[in-house]
Amino acid sequence: MNQPKRYTVTAALPYANGPLHIGHLAGAYISADIYVRYLRLLGKDVIFVSGTDEHGAAITIRAKKEGISPREIIDKYHEQIKKSFQQFGISFDIFHRTSEPIHYETSQEFFRILNEKGAFEIIESEQYYDEEAQQFLADRYITGTCPNCHHEGAYGDQCEHCGATLSPTDLIHPKSMISGQTPVLKKTKHWYLKLDEYQNEIKQWLETKKGVWKNHVYGQCMGWIDTGLQPRAMTRDLDWGIPVPPEIEGAEDKVLYVWLDAPIGYISATRQLFKEIEEKKYSFAQPQSPLLLEKKADAWEDYWKSDDTCLIHFIGKDNIVFHCITFPAILKATGQYILPYNVPANEFMNLQGGKISTSRNWAVWLHEYLEELSGKEDELRYTLIANMPENKDSEFTWEDFQARVNNELVANLGNFVNRVVVLVHKYYEGIIPHPGQLTTEDQAVLAEIPLTAKKISEAFEHFKFKDALALFNELSSVGNKYLADNEPWKKIKTDVAATKRIMYVSAQICGALNILVQPLLPHTAQKMSKILGVQQGLWIENETEFISTGTVLGKPELLFEKISDEIVEKQIAKLGKKEDIVLQEEVEKSDCPPVKETITFDDFAKLDIRTGVILSAERVPKTDKLMKLEVDLGFEKRTIVSGIAQHFEAENLKGQKVSVIVNLQARKMKGIDSSGMILMSEDKDGQLKFVNADTIPGDIIR
Ligand code: 2FM
Ligand code: ZN
Repeated sequence: MNQPKRYTVTAALPYANGPLHIGHLAGAYISADIYVRYLRLLGKDVIFVSGTDEHGAAITIRAKKEGISPREIIDKYHEQIKKSFQQFGISFDIFHRTSEPIHYETSQEFFRILNEKGAFEIIESEQYYDEEAQQFLADRYITGTCPNCHHEGAYGDQCEHCGATLSPTDLIHPKSMISGQTPVLKKTKHWYLKLDEYQNEIKQWLETKKGVWKNHVYGQCMGWIDTGLQPRAMTRDLDWGIPVPPEIEGAEDKVLYVWLDAPIGYISATRQLFKEIEEKKYSFAQPQSPLLLEKKADAWEDYWKSDDTCLIHFIGKDNIVFHCITFPAILKATGQYILPYNVPANEFMNLQGGKISTSRNWAVWLHEYLEELSGKEDELRYTLIANMPENKDSEFTWEDFQARVNNELVANLGNFVNRVVVLVHKYYEGIIPHPGQLTTEDQAVLAEIPLTAKKISEAFEHFKFKDALALFNELSSVGNKYLADNEPWKKIKTDVAATKRIMYVSAQICGALNILVQPLLPHTAQKMSKILGVQQGLWIENETEFISTGTVLGKPELLFEKISDEIVEKQIAKLGKKEDIVLQEEVEKSDCPPVKETITFDDFAKLDIRTGVILSAERVPKTDKLMKLEVDLGFEKRTIVSGIAQHFEAENLKGQKVSVIVNLQARKMKGIDSSGMILMSEDKDGQLKFVNADTIPGDIIR
């Protein structure tokens, strides 16, 4: 996009159903915050909006769990989440709520417009109904076994294990989350967004993003497009949500689907932001870009409807389809709104060898970190940037946290700044000396500054935050090396003029680092400004002087302290401890799922399981999980599609013995007829293994 006039940056609205953990931070918020801080330093007109997502089953299930009302849940967690973000330093201009009246208005208005534009079709269908609780069950109120990967605890709309999108009726052994009973099917009608009609338009638009968006984001989107978009219900039979506008006939008692209202939350947050700006009453913090402070309430429209606005959504990978297909289709259908320029979604961050799990308390909770390691916000931010799951899943470990703080932050940046400040105090009473004539080596070192700034800018502009951090560290290393090579502590005795030069040049590198560190580590940037006695400045263009001769430095103070083994051990010991359990999502399964309902021998006897051997295997293009297998069953050869591609390499599968259910109805998966199902066992870390024995193809398993 050529020189946008303004930027609208959004970060996913977390559900107000539990505290934040490092997975949230690494998924969307740190990248978004770095990007926005960088834009602000360039003097760009930018807004940064987010808030809590307060509807949907995520909230009501949690309320039921805690035995309090949904309203109490959202109030409690909204406040906690907002406070954690503020303390951690995520610099939203507004952190809004989807329970606010302005959001109800905005969402209902969207529904009206979509209805008028003919974007919906009303479809009557049979949906699961809990007879005991006397209510229809929204997708997330139903769990069961995924038909694709056999994970137990798949939701009615998605299996988070294999990523498959599901309908509640796809689930094997569906169960109501409210009563635990098997639900029955009952007729109801809903307003469906005709996604199938937008398929071509969305496809054409997405194709313009090839090579621009991250490969994994683009790939996932195209995977959806290739399977063909289906109409998707935008209403629900629930009593917690935004009512469908009352004038819509036949929709009494229905509410908007949470994934319709949530992304509209970005827009209502923007409306609220400009209202607060006009009224000069801010609910979060005063907007950080001075350009915003003069705007009027109606300015929000420029940020959502103007072609010269660059809209960027920061999200985690589980939100891709909603931000890259459904929401753009909705925005497009209105005929008024712009579409996102980029959606730089991150993948997932694992923790200490396992998946982050709220129910197993396998998480680093932000509010706990902020309390226990107060003052070390940037140490966590640094480690999360260094391990950011930009293009693939990554991992946080406490040992790595310790190593990064001790060997990188303390030893590199911290050490350099401290040595410079201490020496300037020692030799010149804290006043930056006049350098005299710079040598070619000095000039070469100073020339590194704008070069590095340019490279960091490019990295930010391409959402490569890990690279940006590495470039920043390199400049700090350049400073350390310059100091070590030039040894001012020796020269002070022999060459007074050279020492002045060396200290002046070193101070300029510190000053430059102080500017470059602002988007990456904002707390450190503030500390550095104080120590260096300078104001935080705008981004570096071509300049090489940042702390002029005569500037009085502040008191030397260490930027970082080493992390002790004790801290690491204590934090690791906390993981998985049940007493602090924060059950964020009821539906998350414990390690050992309960035994399923009893079946008769006749039920069992219906299964025909045989031994087979894999003849060939290939990944199904444009999917992460699916593998197409040719299997010899002794009596015939079959094609079977199995959700195992993340666990095995195709080339290693030839000759693998497998157990196959051979009388399961054939299904089409990604256009391939799959005739049978391979039995797999899954350990508590989600690793799959083949269920096989020393049998030969065709043997019957009883
Ligand atoms: O996945 C989630 O946590 C959702 N609450 C994200 C919503 S993002 C946006 F659309 F609001
Ligand atoms: Zn699955």
